[in-house]
Amino acid sequence: MKPPAIAIDGPAASGKSTVAKLVAKKLGYTFINTGAMYRAIAWYLAQQGVAPAQHEKIAEMLPNMPLDFGKEGAVSTVLCAGKRLGRELTEPVVNDSVSLVAAIPEVRAFLLHKQREYNESEAVVMEGRDIGTAVFPDTPFKYYVTASEEVRAARRAAQGLTDSIRERDKNDRERACSPLTRAADARVIDTSDMTVEQVVAEIVNDIKDKTQVQS
Ligand code: DC
Repeated sequence: MKPPAIAIDGPAASGKSTVAKLVAKKLGYTFINTGAMYRAIAWYLAQQGVAPAQHEKIAEMLPNMPLDFGKEGAVSTVLCAGKRLGRELTEPVVNDSVSLVAAIPEVRAFLLHKQREYNESEAVVMEGRDIGTAVFPDTPFKYYVTASEEVRAARRAAQGLTDSIRERDKNDRERACSPLTRAADARVIDTSDMTVEQVVAEIVNDIKDKTQVQS
């Protein structure tokens, strides 16, 4: 039987990364940050001086990019030419271009395959925008984590990041290919007035309930 996949989607700065990491830890599953995968491609393209509008060139470059999507311990990593990417992934040039790069169908198809590979041999908690709708549409464990725009902007600012989340969300919601949208069967959690611990508990309890029903 395929190992379980927990899908956590939601808009930028909704708190889904923090929550997904803790849910993975509680369950002993691997945490996969798919935003970092899109960010790595956006960063690499910026390094090469390739604009997000150069779709054909980007599609051609994809199989030969020196990027590796792996994991360290129980957390996904992104490497470029063997070097782990960290701070690079939140550079302004990446924040500004990533939603445009993520709208390119060839980029999405390329990463979809890599994302599913993680779940072939291990249980995962995967966070992103289309995990419940496109990556694991058949998983019974889908969560759509959101928060009011004010709360999300405040959370981003508290991280010391200046990132136009409104524009990124607009691009992510309006793109033709796998847009950010709530899966019809996802449980919606508005985290505006919740603590991280409350959100984690709600998700973990729901997974436990569903697992008991299934077994
Ligand atoms: O989660 P994040 O803010 O690091 O994501 C960066 C961008 O990548 C975001 O603007 C949308 C895109 N993305 C996506 O389109 N699909 C995913 N599964 C994850 C991220």
